[in-house]
Amino acid sequence: MNFIFFRSLLPSPYSLLPNFLCFLVNIWQSSPANLVLSKDEVHVFSASLKQPLWRLQQLAKILSPDEQLRANNFYFEKDRWRFIVCRGILRIILGRYLDIEPSQIQFSYGVHSKPALLETSRNSSTLQFNLSHSQELALYAFTLSRQVGIDLEYIRPIDDIDSLAKHFFSEQEYTVLRKLPESERQIAFFNCWTRKEAYIKATGQGLSLPLNQFEVSLIPGDPAMLLRTFTDSKEASLWSLQELTPDPEYIAALAVQGFYWQLKMFSWSG
Ligand SMILES: CC(C)(COP(=O)(O)OP(=O)(O)OC[C@H]1O[C@@H](n2cnc3c(N)ncnc32)[C@H](O)[C@@H]1OP(=O)(O)O)[C@@H](O)C(=O)NCCC(=O)NCCS
Repeated sequence: MNFIFFRSLLPSPYSLLPNFLCFLVNIWQSSPANLVLSKDEVHVFSASLKQPLWRLQQLAKILSPDEQLRANNFYFEKDRWRFIVCRGILRIILGRYLDIEPSQIQFSYGVHSKPALLETSRNSSTLQFNLSHSQELALYAFTLSRQVGIDLEYIRPIDDIDSLAKHFFSEQEYTVLRKLPESERQIAFFNCWTRKEAYIKATGQGLSLPLNQFEVSLIPGDPAMLLRTFTDSKEASLWSLQELTPDPEYIAALAVQGFYWQLKMFSWSG
């Protein structure tokens, strides 16, 4: 069911629902004026990258010179616009957590390009974030002191699911996928893909960690889990994964260091 439709059936104000219930019915609350993140919380924001021109121009102004340079290097205008909107919104949300001007935020980049906050401002050493974009949507995840990764994919037909899975997934994942009825394979493929990417983004290794070196759950309806890694027998017990559905046309996964955290999901509206 379209969750926006479902949300419209709920008594108002639905934001009074307990958070765990909001998650169960897949409710993305509008973001509160005051953003407070506690140690046992994970915040995820969903934002449309399709913004009016005036907003695009506003967001472009808060990017740093190197981000503006990067934006200008995109060949297609739509990619440039998406990058500007995506980074601009990231800066605005971070600015609200840190209580500083979005344009003042400074990033550092890990060995494999994972962006992080440069440790210059209050709380910037503990505030962790990650983001993902696909088509017209972006997702942002925020935690305190826990590593976090997020991945989002637009659900689209994939012609060569079998060969992609054979190449990128572990043998066990490939076998599980092959045994599923045809009608479930596309979702299982995206489950596996987003969960793997969320994990490699949380650790910051990105694609330098071969995707077939660890295993995740993928059967539609099964809880998202990191099942095992081939290099360290304890690694899987250190991470929790969560499936997210920010929109019926997308699949997403969140990877968080540790357990016992509470998820809050927000829709960014400016
Ligand atoms: C990270 C990676 C998996 C992204 O996958 P993707 O599905 O194409 O893209 P997504 O939309 O999900 O995520 C992109 C965002 O992830 C973040 N990101 C980039 N590298 C990352 C990393 N190593 N770990 C976590 N997050 C990363 C960035 O914010 C990026 O968006 P932005 O550049 O527009 O700000 C992939 O690009 C990768 O492995 N990159 C590593 C590159 C690398 O090793 N470079 C070494 C120097 S050449």
